[in-house]
Amino acid sequence: MPVKLDTSYLNKFIKQHEYSQIQPLVKMAHDILQYKSENDRTAFTGWVDLPHNQDKKELEKIKSAAQKIQENSQVLIVIGIGGSYLGARAIIEFLKSNNYNLLPKDTPDIFFVGNNLSASYMQEILKICENKNVSINVISKSGTTAEPAVAFRIFREFLENKYGKANARDRIYCTTNIRSGELKELADKNGYETFIIPDNISGRFSAFTPAGLLPIAVAGVDIDRLLYGAKSAQDALMHEDINKNDCYKYAAIRRLLYNKGKEIEILETYEPRMHMFSEWFKQLFGESEAKDGKGIFPTSLDFTTDLHSMGQLLQSGKKNLFETVLLVKDPGNDIRIPYFPEDTDKLNYLHDKTVSFVNSQAALGTILAHTDGDIPNIILEISHFAAEEIGYLIYFFEKACAISCYMLGVNPFDQPGVEFYKKNMLNLLGKPK
Ligand code: PA5
Repeated sequence: MPVKLDTSYLNKFIKQHEYSQIQPLVKMAHDILQYKSENDRTAFTGWVDLPHNQDKKELEKIKSAAQKIQENSQVLIVIGIGGSYLGARAIIEFLKSNNYNLLPKDTPDIFFVGNNLSASYMQEILKICENKNVSINVISKSGTTAEPAVAFRIFREFLENKYGKANARDRIYCTTNIRSGELKELADKNGYETFIIPDNISGRFSAFTPAGLLPIAVAGVDIDRLLYGAKSAQDALMHEDINKNDCYKYAAIRRLLYNKGKEIEILETYEPRMHMFSEWFKQLFGESEAKDGKGIFPTSLDFTTDLHSMGQLLQSGKKNLFETVLLVKDPGNDIRIPYFPEDTDKLNYLHDKTVSFVNSQAALGTILAHTDGDIPNIILEISHFAAEEIGYLIYFFEKACAISCYMLGVNPFDQPGVEFYKKNMLNLLGKPK
């Protein structure tokens, strides 16, 4: 079981009978996801069967495009925002490192742009690209989002100035929907190689579509192993009984805690390479669940770093939150703490212990302290940093998120609230109607 749920620190917050009481609500949510939404075109549940339902031809196309980019480019620029970049970045950093670009490797550097409107951020990346061979993967399901559209203009101009329009064309890959939007038009008009995000999968559930898979494959990740993990999750997380399905039990616990006034969920990790995974998690739950004045506020902390900035607030602040601690049993690449005869820093008691052991004790100490401080702690554990593990984990959270939303009575797959800032911004910029 690649994701292990440990509820032993929840005993003082949730009583056994509460799990049985919430089971009918979980079953109702399960039935909506598995059966009712199948015939509902607005349901966007294509991701549920996606691991087993991959388009084989599209997968082969992704692999050969990735190989071509690896052969002819030192840099891949991935342009996209929200669900059109977070899954790819989370998986690449989880498997390769948050220092992926700095480490020696035989795959291209990957820079993510179009996820902000900062000129200096774009300038820096243009500068990095100056004497390098570059390809672009622009990702936008709607093909109309302002941030990636602005970045694409700027980086397309850079590429066309560098290689000429015709040669630049061979270095531009578009990932969008099958039928409409400015990006689709641009791709068709200029003959860019195009990958399709299926209509029935919304952005934040699209990590296993070409939106995630192409950049991930360019980074040298074995996407078959990634999808194998997702397939295992699809098979394993079907049972409607929370005692036989940890994904549903996690969703049930979130709901029980929410009912007790715990309105903030903090995802906590102890490895810097998981930082972007937490960003992906926040978008998944934030955009899916927070609607109609309801929903848990998802946030994240990177430990032990943030224990030295937010530890006080957690231990002694308002008790309106709970923690979901995502641990990795064997993080690999361990380092032993050396012995110094003089022991001036008084650390010889740790001599020969590993850094990961110290990290694991910091995690346990924190879980115990916060549980004593009346913060419910949900523990999730995976075994190591492998493609199968992250494939499973992504699917686990996607399904837990959908179930949480249906239990709350909100549609997991729309994001009407996001439109308000966009409308104001485009009006202020004078976009023609
Ligand atoms: O989850 C979502 O649907 C959104 O976060 C989108 O991914 C994001 O707004 C980007 O949209 P698009 O891919 O259409 O540019």
